[in-house]
Amino acid sequence: MQSMQYPLNKLRENIASSFPSTTFKVLKEVKINIIKMELSITRPDDWHLHLRDGKLLEAVIPHSAHHFGRAIIMPNLKPPITTTAAAMAYRESILKALPINSGFTPLMTLYLTDSTTPAEIKLAKESGVIYAVKLYPAGATTNSQDGVTDLFGKCMPVIEEMVKHNMPLLVHGEVTSPEVDIFDREKVFIETVLSPLVLKFPQLKVVMEHVTTMDAVKFVESCAEGRIAATVTPQHLVLNRNSLFQGGLQPHNYCLPVLKRETHRQAIVSAVTSGSKRFFLGTDSAPHDRLKKECPCGCAGIYNAPVALAVYAKVFEEAGALDKLEAFTSFNGPDFYGLPRNTSKITLRKTPWKVPESFSYASGHVVPMFAGEMLDWLPSPV
Ligand code: DOR
Ligand code: ZN
Repeated sequence: MQSMQYPLNKLRENIASSFPSTTFKVLKEVKINIIKMELSITRPDDWHLHLRDGKLLEAVIPHSAHHFGRAIIMPNLKPPITTTAAAMAYRESILKALPINSGFTPLMTLYLTDSTTPAEIKLAKESGVIYAVKLYPAGATTNSQDGVTDLFGKCMPVIEEMVKHNMPLLVHGEVTSPEVDIFDREKVFIETVLSPLVLKFPQLKVVMEHVTTMDAVKFVESCAEGRIAATVTPQHLVLNRNSLFQGGLQPHNYCLPVLKRETHRQAIVSAVTSGSKRFFLGTDSAPHDRLKKECPCGCAGIYNAPVALAVYAKVFEEAGALDKLEAFTSFNGPDFYGLPRNTSKITLRKTPWKVPESFSYASGHVVPMFAGEMLDWLPSPV
């Protein structure tokens, strides 16, 4: 059978006349999905990334640098990045590990402890390379042993100094008391720590990192836009807590805060696809060697950098909100941090591709999110 080429302009006319009363948005979607099957967007940034160090850093950094312009680099190394000097040295090792000609910029952070001083915050600001301070409640997650034990008792002068310099506080929003159920830790943190903190410091900029509950969504939406925002990971948009146990224990779906029930996932999807400026992309890509995930006491963390953009695109496509994807991936984050938006573009093509089973590196293997599965959207820089 002979195939016939249908002229593009004719197809556009037909679509337009088939939808006489539809809005521009619908026509734009039809155009994206049916005619072009590709999306060109401003290069995204990742506002929450774990790059690690040493051989693992070298192995994972190309995946982030390929897609993202900048990333907020989390400081929970061993030992943690608690000083400006350590952050500057870590930044140098990240730059050294980048692929040649990469334009990727690491935005460094400091790890808050009970003994961080206001002088250190001032130094961090003056360095010009540190953009935020990360609050890990002690014991909340990977390498958080040196985190904060008494925020209101010990860290108030530091928070005041941060307000002075307009430096955002990035919050791992979970309480750590063993008597609080793991699925309630974010909600209780909002009630007992975050709400009082925001009330006490109305000028403090806060990012509630990797939100996982309807409670967090409501809290962020109730606060002043531009003061309180939230990052959202790919996993908390597409997986619920069933994914931890589907067909047996699934260590590669284990992260913290832990996946929650379906109603929470749906609330997060609605929030990010609504077009709200309060939510932006933060992958929380957290690579661990395969042997540290598949073992009797596995580490928390999902390695999602290779698939993150494909997953975000799928979520927005399924919500009929592809027209809002770019603001979430590329505008809301820099706007909140007061940084310029990227000027280069990337393309997302709607074409099936298979996620590798694992990536090998000098010291072992890392298993990505959705290993071995098919995804629909393939990102590539232009
Ligand atoms: O799952 C997680 N992994 N959550 C965190 O908060 C830390 C991260 C890591 O560093 O592995
Ligand atoms: Zn993280």
